[in-house]
Amino acid sequence: MRYRLWRIAVFLVAPILPLYWLYQAWAFALGPDPGKVLVDRLGLAALALLLITLAMTPLQRLSGWGGWIAVRRQLGLWCFAYVLLHLSAYAVFVLGLDAGQLLIDLRKRPYIFVGALAFVGLLVLAVTSNRWSIRKLGRRWKMLHRLIYGILALVLLHMLWVVRADIEEWLIYAAIGSFLMVLRIPGVLERLKPFFSGPRVKSRKLSQ
Ligand code: HEM
Repeated sequence: MRYRLWRIAVFLVAPILPLYWLYQAWAFALGPDPGKVLVDRLGLAALALLLITLAMTPLQRLSGWGGWIAVRRQLGLWCFAYVLLHLSAYAVFVLGLDAGQLLIDLRKRPYIFVGALAFVGLLVLAVTSNRWSIRKLGRRWKMLHRLIYGILALVLLHMLWVVRADIEEWLIYAAIGSFLMVLRIPGVLERLKPFFSGPRVKSRKLSQ
């Protein structure tokens, strides 16, 4: 299998952050409200992984290196795993596993509802990200996986609702997300390509 070592390296690196945070929680190193810190950190890491996953196709098209695509599905699944941990931390530390409290939260905090919509979208993508679904759904698979753009918008809205006034960090995530969306517009990547392949072409000419 191509890029085997690269895939294994990504697989080994991806779970390091949550494992480290769990260790910090166990060692009482996350401050007076470790549950909330875990929920927030896991949410941010899930969003970062969503953006990294979305960056794989443009990176492959700009660099021509197939390794980016080789780890795209894995990164998407890691993003989903981080979201599951984010939800688990919320269920355990914020709700105290009380389903009644969830109903109150859904009514009182609309950002929870927005997050839940994003979660359902990610769940659909995660269960259809296997070879069998790709074969079975054919061209509809690509259309279904365009859901990712709507999911990104929902997650950014979810985060904006949480951070409200403290908007600087949100702006960074939103700017990266918007940039990745602009790269999907037909023709944009083609225009950027010379900036990435230019030096290589030049150096080849020089060495001739
Ligand atoms: C049922 C689904 C979800 C629930 C119940 C949920 C719950 C929460 C809660 C309780 C917070 C912390 C609010 C606070 O600090 O006061 C939060 C923040 C956040 N969540 Fe979610 N979430 C959900 C889905 C998602 C998904 C799918 C993502 C990303 C892929 C995500 C990313 C984030 C981010 C980025 C933050 C902000 C963290 C920060 O700025 O500190 N959430 N979420």
